[in-house]
Amino acid sequence: MSNKSFLLVMTVLIMMFPFASRANNCTTSECHTEFKQLKKLHFPAEDNCLRCHEKVGKHKFKLVEQRELCFDCHDENRKRKYVHEALISLECSACHNSHGGNFKFYLKSERIDTMCFECHDKDSMTREFIHQPLADGDCTSCHDAHASDYPTLLSAGKETFCFECHEDKDYSKGNMKVHSILEEGCTGCHNPHSSGYRYMLSAAPGGICGDCHEDIGEKAKTAKYKHLPVEKDRKCLNCHEAHASPVESGLKKKQTELCVQCHNKWIKGTDGKQFNIYTMIRDNPVKHQPLEAGECHGCHDPHGSDFYKILNARFPSRFYSEFKVENYELCFQCHDSALAVSERARKDTDFRDGTRNLHYVHVNLKKGRTCRACHEPHATKNRKLIRETTPFGKWSLPVGFKKTPDGGSCSPGCHKPFTYNREIKTKPVNKKINQ
Ligand code: HEC
Ligand code: HEC
Ligand code: HEC
Ligand code: HEC
Ligand code: HEC
Ligand code: HEC
Ligand code: HEC
Ligand code: HEC
Ligand code: HEC
Ligand code: HEC
Ligand code: HEC
Ligand code: HEC
Ligand code: HEC
Repeated sequence: MSNKSFLLVMTVLIMMFPFASRANNCTTSECHTEFKQLKKLHFPAEDNCLRCHEKVGKHKFKLVEQRELCFDCHDENRKRKYVHEALISLECSACHNSHGGNFKFYLKSERIDTMCFECHDKDSMTREFIHQPLADGDCTSCHDAHASDYPTLLSAGKETFCFECHEDKDYSKGNMKVHSILEEGCTGCHNPHSSGYRYMLSAAPGGICGDCHEDIGEKAKTAKYKHLPVEKDRKCLNCHEAHASPVESGLKKKQTELCVQCHNKWIKGTDGKQFNIYTMIRDNPVKHQPLEAGECHGCHDPHGSDFYKILNARFPSRFYSEFKVENYELCFQCHDSALAVSERARKDTDFRDGTRNLHYVHVNLKKGRTCRACHEPHATKNRKLIRETTPFGKWSLPVGFKKTPDGGSCSPGCHKPFTYNREIKTKPVNKKINQ
């Protein structure tokens, strides 16, 4: 007979004969009265005290060999892959009252954790922010007290375990992009029991990210130009979701929307000047392609940078700058540096007068004009990102650009009007501007 059916038969027997023989019963009106007070007696205790107690003298008893004691009738648990140490050492009575009891399963106390804390550290499980099932004392909602097929006596594998109660955090069904660390379960960031931080996190919500992403955490702290939101308030969580997001890089929103959620007002930059990038993008229909694609990070490092305006590569910060290819690393990540290096214009530039490369003319000088003299990197009203005015100290210098079918003209505040024409094969119209 299997143990299960044995238990079943016995249970039925007990129910049929509630006052079953107490032939060997030692509980009389005078002796061992404590058992009588129990709400319910454990079947063998009701049946035969000598099942477990061996007589070794006149009213002298010793427990029968531990192995026989309980496993004789309750055996299932030992067959599982992971067995609780307390079971291996046969300490059933650490949790159960062998004779019967007032609580379910003859447990020694109503609250399960009371028994667990007899052997396990209470402090680490009762810190300020405590997981609800633990607050209820309910260790066995997650652990099997006896044995399990999963490590740590859990009711499921580490990867899926938490979904048993937090179904909404199982992102495998939707089309969210999931933070890859979640593949290893949730305990990389959450203590399953309790912690000193909200949501039982292993560190403060904003600070937890730097524990694994040391490089970014470090950059945020040491960058020459810091980006305020990375270190302020919710820190990383100002921009990122911790678990999953419909957008790349775990961002809360698409970059264009994310960034302007703060940059929709006048903000003072590290150079002390006020700017409002939102109105600039909103009011100017011609957008730089990476911006159109929602990639502010094509040019900016949102975590902080050693380059001015948290740019992700070098770019001169002033109106004039000596030309060196590496100074324009930012633009030349995506644009061919020949644009400013080659004196003779190539076919791929429209800014030429005959074969004269006008980018070279303006930029490639000891006191070269930086791209910002004519272009706005985000958005403009004119094609080719040509700006209407350019910041020159405190002055907004008009550019006065006009496009013609074969070229264009400008009448800027810095020199007399010039025109250029791509179709002119011979003599250039204007000379190199001396600076
Ligand atoms: C299923 C096995 C089992 C049966 C049946 C059983 N006992 Fe026990 N008994 C134990 C174990 C195990 C201990 C020691 C650990 C403990 O406290 O539970 C024990 C301890 C005792 C003790 C020591 C004091 C105490 O409470 O710790 C007494 C007295 C005792 N039993 C009396 C009885 C009597 C009387 C019966 C029959 C009515 C009986 N037992 C039936 C397992 C059993
Ligand atoms: C002779 C067989 C037998 C032995 C030995 C035995 N039990 Fe039991 N046990 C039963 C039966 C039958 C039941 C079901 C009826 C009842 O609750 O008393 C039961 C019920 C229980 C229950 C409650 C289960 C439930 O579903 O409510 C616990 C807990 C328990 N036993 C623990 C122990 C422990 C601990 C020992 C060893 C100290 C032990 N048993 C030894 C037969 C046994
Ligand atoms: C660490 C504490 C602990 C130890 C040690 C322990 N149990 Fe239990 N046992 C429990 C708890 C808690 C429950 C109730 C389970 C639940 O809440 O789901 C339980 C339930 C039971 C049940 C009834 C439900 C079931 O799983 O069949 C039996 C029978 C049982 N235990 C037998 C034993 C036996 C036999 C031993 C020793 C070999 C033992 N237990 C050791 C804590 C323990
Ligand atoms: C009689 C002492 C004792 C009691 C009571 C006890 N445990 Fe344990 N438990 C141990 C020992 C010993 C180990 C093995 C050493 C360790 O990992 O701390 C262990 C290990 C564990 C483990 C880790 C297993 C692993 O694979 O890492 C869990 C989970 C656990 N116990 C849960 C519980 C729960 C839940 C309770 C209460 C229902 C409980 N224990 C009560 C002694 C006990
Ligand atoms: C919400 C589910 C949950 C509850 C409730 C819970 N645990 Fe755990 N416990 C876990 C998980 C998950 C782990 C594994 C942690 C890991 O792998 O990093 C664990 C690990 C453990 C360990 C192994 C050592 C350690 O501390 O990591 C012990 C011992 C333990 N729990 C005991 C308990 C006790 C005692 C209680 C009740 C007071 C309890 N647990 C309640 C989920 C839970
Ligand atoms: C047995 C069910 C159960 C399991 C398993 C479980 N939780 Fe919970 N958890 C709850 C309950 C109940 C609450 C409180 C209600 C709520 O906020 O959803 C809670 C709350 C939380 C909270 C705090 C939510 C808040 O708003 O304060 C976090 C974080 C959490 N659980 C993480 C986890 C992690 C991580 C795991 C896996 C290690 C896990 N839970 C497994 C039941 C469970
Ligand atoms: C990379 C670290 C990390 C991992 C891994 C992680 N979390 Fe979180 N979790 C957080 C942070 C940070 C918060 C706080 C979010 C906030 O304040 O917006 C949080 C909040 C929560 C909350 C409460 C707020 C809410 O969103 O409902 C629950 C519940 C939760 N996590 C469950 C889980 C579960 C379940 C898993 C595993 C599937 C998991 N977490 C994995 C970092 C993590
Ligand atoms: C326990 C370690 C751990 C913690 C804590 C952690 N991460 Fe991660 N994170 C990883 C791993 C591992 C990867 C995947 C490998 C990689 O890209 O570095 C990853 C990847 C990422 C990615 C790239 C995702 C993509 O789609 O390219 C982002 C963004 C990210 N984490 C943000 C965060 C944020 C924000 C936090 C804090 C809420 C955080 N991480 C906390 C381990 C962690
Ligand atoms: C101001 C918004 C913002 C803040 C604050 C922020 N990030 Fe990011 N993060 C982004 C954007 C935008 C991207 C995507 C572009 C990129 O890869 O640089 C990103 C990408 C990442 C990536 C993936 C990078 C890669 O190379 O794939 C990680 C990891 C990351 N962030 C971690 C963090 C951590 C850690 C913090 C806090 C120290 C943080 N972020 C704070 C906006 C932010
Ligand atoms: C949570 C609000 C917030 C978000 C979101 C945010 N920023 Fe900022 N940003 C600021 C604040 C405040 C400043 C001005 C203070 C500072 O960093 O020096 C700033 C400054 C800047 C600067 C100028 C830095 C300087 O050196 O003057 C740039 C460039 C910038 N942000 C780009 C971005 C980009 C790109 C994004 C999106 C990936 C973004 N910001 C998202 C708040 C935000
Ligand atoms: C093609 C490169 C590029 C892209 C893409 C780009 N920026 Fe910029 N951004 C720059 C450059 C270059 C500057 C410095 C402008 C200057 O000083 O002339 C700048 C400056 C800024 C400033 C500071 C403005 C000021 O006047 O100080 C903010 C804020 C900013 N960018 C936000 C964004 C946001 C938000 C996005 C995405 C929607 C974005 N940028 C996309 C190149 C870019
Ligand atoms: C992340 C890549 C990237 C970076 C960095 C970048 N650009 Fe662009 N830029 C593009 C793309 C893509 C286009 C549109 C496709 C093309 O080249 O025809 C474009 C177009 C332009 C145009 C307009 C061309 C037209 O046909 O409308 C100008 C002007 C321009 N960029 C200037 C700059 C300047 C100045 C910088 C440095 C401050 C810069 N770009 C940095 C990718 C980039
Ligand atoms: C003196 C003004 C001026 C300066 C300085 C300038 N550009 Fe231009 N750029 C133009 C004009 C005008 C056009 C459009 C020509 C046309 O379409 O007729 C243009 C066009 C472009 C284009 C589109 C492709 C092409 O060549 O037609 C790119 C890319 C570009 N510029 C990048 C840059 C970069 C990068 C810098 C800084 C290294 C820069 N420009 C500096 C005036 C300037």
